[in-house]
Amino acid sequence: AANSMWGGRFAAGPDAIMEAINASIGFDRRLYAQDIQGSRAHAAMLAAQGIISDSDAKAIGEGLLTVLSEIEAGEFPFTTALEDIHMNVEARLKKLIGEPAGRLHTGRSRNDQVATDFRLWVRDQCDAAISGLQALIRAALSQAEAGADWVMPGFTHLQTAQPVTWGHHMMAYVEMFGRDLSRFQDARRRMNESPLGAAALAGTGYPIDREATAQALGFDRPMANSLDAVSDRDFALEFLSSASICAVHLSRLAEELVIWSSAQFRFVSMSDKWSTGSSIMPQKRNPDAAELIRAKIGRILGANVALFTVMKGLPLAYSKDMQEDKEQVFDAADHLMLALAAMAGMLSDLTANRDRLEAAASTGFSTATDLADWLVRELGLPFRDAHHVTGSLVAMAEEQGIDLPDLTLEQMQSVHEAITDDVFSVLGVHNSVASRQSYGGTAPDQVRAQIARWKEKLA
Ligand code: ARG
Repeated sequence: AANSMWGGRFAAGPDAIMEAINASIGFDRRLYAQDIQGSRAHAAMLAAQGIISDSDAKAIGEGLLTVLSEIEAGEFPFTTALEDIHMNVEARLKKLIGEPAGRLHTGRSRNDQVATDFRLWVRDQCDAAISGLQALIRAALSQAEAGADWVMPGFTHLQTAQPVTWGHHMMAYVEMFGRDLSRFQDARRRMNESPLGAAALAGTGYPIDREATAQALGFDRPMANSLDAVSDRDFALEFLSSASICAVHLSRLAEELVIWSSAQFRFVSMSDKWSTGSSIMPQKRNPDAAELIRAKIGRILGANVALFTVMKGLPLAYSKDMQEDKEQVFDAADHLMLALAAMAGMLSDLTANRDRLEAAASTGFSTATDLADWLVRELGLPFRDAHHVTGSLVAMAEEQGIDLPDLTLEQMQSVHEAITDDVFSVLGVHNSVASRQSYGGTAPDQVRAQIARWKEKLA
């Protein structure tokens, strides 16, 4: 049978495969609440403008609430023949209230309808990402506060570089997640304009009030151009791009947790709640949650690339290609929220092994730069010469299998005669971190100041 929504000019119904490729109800049913919210706002506006009667609007509004409760009770008869959530809801409304249902779609198209529903859904996901990030930032802040002056090795190239503090390392992630948070806030602000009333693409001749529906749906204003309103998926791309960058940050922290929890590092112990065992190796405690978080970037960035690829080259205005936007965003959003929650939980339950961190910080000639700086400061050497002298001392220590503070003064003086006993004061890791007082540096005072700034920001 021909479609009940547009059957007028069709003699036959679609091929079964056409129906299968065309339908989106299998996934866009997730937009039901937004679809009903949008339709209720539209119907109320139509009545306020005298385009439909108050009694029809009332029947529509109440009927839509019945549909909502049917869906929420799991009693709604979804059908692929009706293609998508918009037509499923409208067809059901018709069954429930009869003739007035046919007036709902006045001055509206599925093109502005779907753009509105999806924007509302993505806007909610921005809010979810923002609160997920706030919880994660709080977890990292607690770690930073507990270990603001715990010394650990700082790495470049994963080779020992200079000692840093645990708090400093945690606060680096707080900065990253803070930027992610502001990206979701920015994206939310930009996407908060209403496409509703753009109709198919050209606007409508009915005297609609786009300001009213925008306001009813919590949008800041109606979108300014009806062609853009139905063609634009920037909001989804911005969400996915923000999610991708955030997933990169999650993945980097997850990678560090995987390395740090290994028997060779033992920098951290993960709680039982966030570890798994092995069915064959009894000693195992695997960081599966961290590994899965590390992997989430694959599907999130994948979704981002998929939607960019769908959108590039689409002529204005709506094309059915755009129906492919939803599954990508749904999947990316689900997995981002899961990863954020898992990371926050894992970080809250994580124990940093303070002694082990400090012992590791003292190996690998981590205070060689402090030694070179001492030569500059106390002996007036040019930094390049100081670098060379220090390099010779490191080579000497390495040859003897000892660390820099274990060299004798005589051995030091054999490389540069003016070196004095005072040099040993800068070779300890605690002195090293305490000396790095430059703004944003690793000195515990600086780290505590950074923590205080964040606490204020979150309060
Ligand atoms: N199911 C469609 C989508 O998700 C709804 C819009 C359909 N519009 C149209 N002109 N066929 O994009």
